[in-house]
Amino acid sequence: MDFAAILLQWFKKNGRSLPWRETNDPYAIWLSEVILQQTRITQGTSYWERFMAQWPTVNDLAAATEDEVLKAWQGLGYYSRARNLHTAAQQVVELGGFPQTFKDLKTLKGVGDYTAAAIASIAFSEPAAVVDGNVYRVLSRYYSIDTPVDSTKGKKEFQALAQSLLPTNEPADYNEAIMDFGAVQCTPTSPRCNTCPLCETCIAFREQRINELPVKSKKVKQRKRHFTYLYIEYEGKIAIHQRGAGDIWQGLWELPQAEQLTSATDNVWKTEAQPLQKGVKHLLTHQILLADFYLWHPKVHPQLPSDFIWIKRQNLDNYALPRLIEILIKEIPT
Ligand code: ADE
Repeated sequence: MDFAAILLQWFKKNGRSLPWRETNDPYAIWLSEVILQQTRITQGTSYWERFMAQWPTVNDLAAATEDEVLKAWQGLGYYSRARNLHTAAQQVVELGGFPQTFKDLKTLKGVGDYTAAAIASIAFSEPAAVVDGNVYRVLSRYYSIDTPVDSTKGKKEFQALAQSLLPTNEPADYNEAIMDFGAVQCTPTSPRCNTCPLCETCIAFREQRINELPVKSKKVKQRKRHFTYLYIEYEGKIAIHQRGAGDIWQGLWELPQAEQLTSATDNVWKTEAQPLQKGVKHLLTHQILLADFYLWHPKVHPQLPSDFIWIKRQNLDNYALPRLIEILIKEIPT
């Protein structure tokens, strides 16, 4: 049996049963793929179920507001995925239906090679090979390839290899098989080589270099940032504002930061506010955030920038918040 046949056989026995595998609906499949891009299956599944219940069709999603979509996405991170999802839903409606080929799917906002190949193969049986982190890992080990997977050369090499291995009559099962295999059997650390059906012909296993592969060239640079947040309560209301473009958390709502309190009267927060938490660490992909939190009950109305709004605490549930802010606010008694 060749590589693909062994994987397919493994998949029949060990493939995960996931709700979006019960449908051919490109919308449901697209949604699952976007959610799963940076999210574990267990967490992603409940979000997928909630999205499908709230917006059963692409038309429903297109008709939602961006705020509603961000709110539903709250906690998943990488919020550009949610914004792109919403924009792409509107594109699909304008097109009069879902694009049905790899090439046409790529015209949708946020749909790159990976997502287009996943939808094209799973929903429309087009023989387009997916390449995600699982695929890089499985192929780099099985063929003992040490070209960095994050280099242009590596991307081309692995894409071509993946495509050459794809059985054209079973593209959906094969793509899902190799991704499941990477997630369940050929895991990043402590892969299960002793029960692996590919072990006998796996070159990295023979060369005992499983743990060296896949190779990545770039170290992700982590930027450190410090935020000082104030939970300002005035006449039973708290101040929040929506973050703009060009930085993290675009479109999400957050508390005022110290540097936004610039008026002379507001400067008294430094003496009046009560520190709640200091140095709370929050990790994003390329940033380490360190946040201090203060609680302030000002005596006069603070002069915040004009984009701030004052809302009742119990209405906070209507606003999409970054996880960091959500965690902090939970600590503050009402
Ligand atoms: N990860 C992301 N999409 C997947 C899929 N369709 N099957 C298995 N793992 C996945």
